[in-house]
Amino acid sequence: MFTKAQQQTLLPVPSGLLQAPRLPRSPEPPLNSNGVTSLICPVKFSLIVPTYNERDNIEKLVQQLSRVLDQVLPDDYELIVVDDDSRDRTWELASQLMASYPSLRVMRRQQEKGLSTAVIRGWQVAKGEVLGVIDGDLQHPPDIVPQLLGAIANGADLAVASRHVDGGGVSSWSLTRRILSRGAQILGLVLLPRVVSSVSDPMSGYFVVRRSAIAGQILHPLGYKILLEVLGRGEINQLAEVGYVFQEREAGRSKVTWKQYVDYLHHLLRLRLSTGRLGWLSQRLEFPIGRFLRFAAVGLSGLVVDMGLLYLLHGLFGLGLTRSAIAASELAILNNFLWNDRWTFQDVAKRQRGNRTVLKRLIKFNVVCLMGVILKVLLLNLLFNGLHINAYLANFLAIVVVTIWNFWLNLKLSWRVTEMQPSPKA
Ligand code: GDD
Ligand code: MN
Repeated sequence: MFTKAQQQTLLPVPSGLLQAPRLPRSPEPPLNSNGVTSLICPVKFSLIVPTYNERDNIEKLVQQLSRVLDQVLPDDYELIVVDDDSRDRTWELASQLMASYPSLRVMRRQQEKGLSTAVIRGWQVAKGEVLGVIDGDLQHPPDIVPQLLGAIANGADLAVASRHVDGGGVSSWSLTRRILSRGAQILGLVLLPRVVSSVSDPMSGYFVVRRSAIAGQILHPLGYKILLEVLGRGEINQLAEVGYVFQEREAGRSKVTWKQYVDYLHHLLRLRLSTGRLGWLSQRLEFPIGRFLRFAAVGLSGLVVDMGLLYLLHGLFGLGLTRSAIAASELAILNNFLWNDRWTFQDVAKRQRGNRTVLKRLIKFNVVCLMGVILKVLLLNLLFNGLHINAYLANFLAIVVVTIWNFWLNLKLSWRVTEMQPSPKA
């Protein structure tokens, strides 16, 4: 049984934006709500250990990390286990270890899940001037932590444990996993060269970063690869790498599934659009370039649906051009709504769940698009009957014009209005 007293020894789970706060600089201790001074005693180093079902590994890991860190930073570090309410009760075992390891702190998250957010929530409560992360399954050898810290002491803002520099490697990965891992890296190089080429192992989940390089920066992690966020949004002027051999898992199971690869790709695209030159432009113009490109991509999928159906109905079944075009457009609208709701405006949609709100959005979207259809039919007739342009080319041109119209209207009406609505009460 986990008693109430034990529960109280757990760290509070922070909420709000995902970011590592700046450490208070002034020696003046802040007052908390009870008027009691709560002294924040910074430590040199906070190391986050994200865990999910790592019961068989956590004790050995804590023991090894403490041994290593007690030598280099006695009493000046903390280990923070952030567990996502593991079924095997890793959080419980970890909290029992706190008696023997005074530097150990434990957080049990029940509302939020995911490796990357776990790491940031850990940093949010961390007291260290230097922040770090290490896997909780012993696949990351603890004995290179001092080298990572040494690199920071020598001026690096970020020190990454890498499998792809001298002294690095993987123990016995299958050819498939090697290919997948390298493939993901090459994809990253193409999509996000500035970030991905700056480090030999951008997939690493084992690194140490100076708090000041990321403090106050809102992070938007997706999936597993938190290092991408740090590289993409942090202020990293000097980077160091330390080789390590990725160990075999002795206990427990990896949580990686195909979804992590999809998330990774999505994450790369998002960083690509929100950081660097594109991000700067987007901010300057106050125009959501990323969102527009997603909207346009969805529009492209709608174009395929629309053209295909027009060919089917008009070309094959001989239905009149106008009627075929209307039917094709309506199905394309439905297609576009589904993708836009799931992807383009995912953040808005997530805050407004429930069938009724989805239906409302669908109706709004549909009205905007139906006005577009009318515009399209008018244009199509003008181009086809008036200017005698080929029916398919005319349809295509009309779609281009209407897509721009749709984006403008959805941006000004449906999207803006939805975004300003308060989130529904639970
Ligand atoms: N809190 C929390 N929540 N922890 C999680 C979650 C989650 O949803 N999912 C995984 N973890 C923890 C695991 O318990 C483990 O400690 C660590 O995160 C890594 O997860 P694994 O499932 O063991 O991943 P892996 O060994 O395949 O993954 C790693 O690939 C890289 C190399 O390509 C990454 O996680 C990197 O850290 C690693 O360097
Ligand atoms: Mn692992």
